[in-house]
Amino acid sequence: MTDLFSKFDPLIQQRETLLATGVTDPYNLVMEKVISPTVAICNGRETILLGTYNYMGMTFDEDVIAAGKDALDKFGSGTTGSRVLNGTYQGHKECEEALKEFYAMDHAMVFSTGYQANLGIISTIAGKGDYVILDIDSHASIYDGCAMGNAEIVAFRHNDVEALEKRLKRLPPEAGKLVVLEGVYSMLGDVAPLKEMIRVSKENGAMILVDEAHSMGFIGENGRGVAEAQGVIDDVDFIIGTFSKSVGTVGGFCVSNHPKFEILRLVCRPYVFTASLPPSVVATAATSIRKLMHGSNKRAHLWENSKVLHKGLRDLGFQLGTDEAQSAIIAVIMPDLEKGAMMWEALLEEGLYVNLARPPATPAGMTLLRCSLCAEHSSEQVGEILGRFERAGKRIGIIG
Ligand SMILES: Cc1ncc(COP(=O)(O)O)c(C=O)c1O
Repeated sequence: MTDLFSKFDPLIQQRETLLATGVTDPYNLVMEKVISPTVAICNGRETILLGTYNYMGMTFDEDVIAAGKDALDKFGSGTTGSRVLNGTYQGHKECEEALKEFYAMDHAMVFSTGYQANLGIISTIAGKGDYVILDIDSHASIYDGCAMGNAEIVAFRHNDVEALEKRLKRLPPEAGKLVVLEGVYSMLGDVAPLKEMIRVSKENGAMILVDEAHSMGFIGENGRGVAEAQGVIDDVDFIIGTFSKSVGTVGGFCVSNHPKFEILRLVCRPYVFTASLPPSVVATAATSIRKLMHGSNKRAHLWENSKVLHKGLRDLGFQLGTDEAQSAIIAVIMPDLEKGAMMWEALLEEGLYVNLARPPATPAGMTLLRCSLCAEHSSEQVGEILGRFERAGKRIGIIG
C-alpha cells in the first residue's frame, strides 16, 4: 500500500525542524479571550492584535451584535439548507439588498464564504475552452475556481500591465476571456493598477472580475474598493468580496450589473450545494455593511494609522513590502523562516500578535510578518506597536 500521506513528508520534516529549535508553533495560537477588535488574551497575556483582517473594527460594534442576537432569537441557530431550497430567509435577502446599495449595483449574491464566492463565480462563468487571465500572485480561491471550471489558466507577472496585455493579445480573439484581478494583494499589501489593467482587458474583449476582499470598507470614497478609488468601478463586470474582513463576520459575495446575473443562482455549484449562512450571520453582515456606508471618519483614521506604522517601521530599519502604505496591510520582510518565527515569537512575548506568512502563500519564497491595522487601533497603540517591534527586532538581530 502506498501511504497517501507520504507526499507531505517534506512539510512534516520542515515543521519538525522548526519546532526543534524551541520556537512556539506559529500556526497553533489560541485566542483565550477577545477583549476588543484590537486586544486579546494569548498565553495568559494581554496582546495587541495586529494580524486580524478586522480592518474596520466591526466585530464588537453594538448594533452589529444586537442584530445578530435578535436574529438568533427570532430565526434560530441555522437554516439547515441550501439557498435554493429552504435556506433563503428574509435576512439573506436583506443582506443582498444592503450589498446592492453599498456598491450601487443591480445584483448581489451571498455565498457561505469568500472562498466559495471565487470558487463558484469563476468556475461557473469560465468553463472548458474559456481563458482565465490572472495575476500570478492571485489568492488560492481564484486558482481553485479556475481548476474547478476547467478553464485555461494564463498567468502574468504580478501587477505588470504590459505582461497582461501581451498575454491577452496572444489569445484567440473569439475565445471567452475573464481577467481576474485583486484590488489589494494581501501578502505585500500592494494595490493593483486597475485602471490600466481594465483598459487593456476591455480593448482585448475580456470580461473583468475584481476581488476586493482586502479593500472593501476601507479604500475608495464609499469604501467600495480600489476600483472605486481609481474611478473604474463601472467597467468591472463582477466584484467579489468577503464578510470575513472589514464586515467582521463570515460569508462571501459577488455584485454585478450583468443583466443575466440571476441565472447563476441555479447553476453555480458552490452556491447550490452547500448550506446557507446562519440567520445571525447575515443579520450582523447586513447591519455592518449599512454602517460601513457611513464610515468615512474611520477610513481616515485607518489611513493615518497605516501611514504612521509604515513610516515608523521603515525608520527603525525594517525592510517592508511596499515603499509607502498602500493599504492597511504592512508586510515586514524577514531574512528566512527561522528568523521570521523567532521574531514572531519575540513579538508575542512583547504582547503583539502579527501573522507569520511563508511560501507557498507568499510571493518569491519570502517569509513575512504581516501587520494589518484596524480602524479601532488608537494612535497610542500604534506607538506601543512600534516600541515592541524595536525591542523584538534588536533582540533577534533583525535591526541594529
Ligand atoms: C483575496 C482573497 N479572496 C478571497 C478570500 C476568501 O475569503 P473568506 O475568508 O471569506 O473565505 C481571501 C481570504 O483570505 C482573500 O484574501
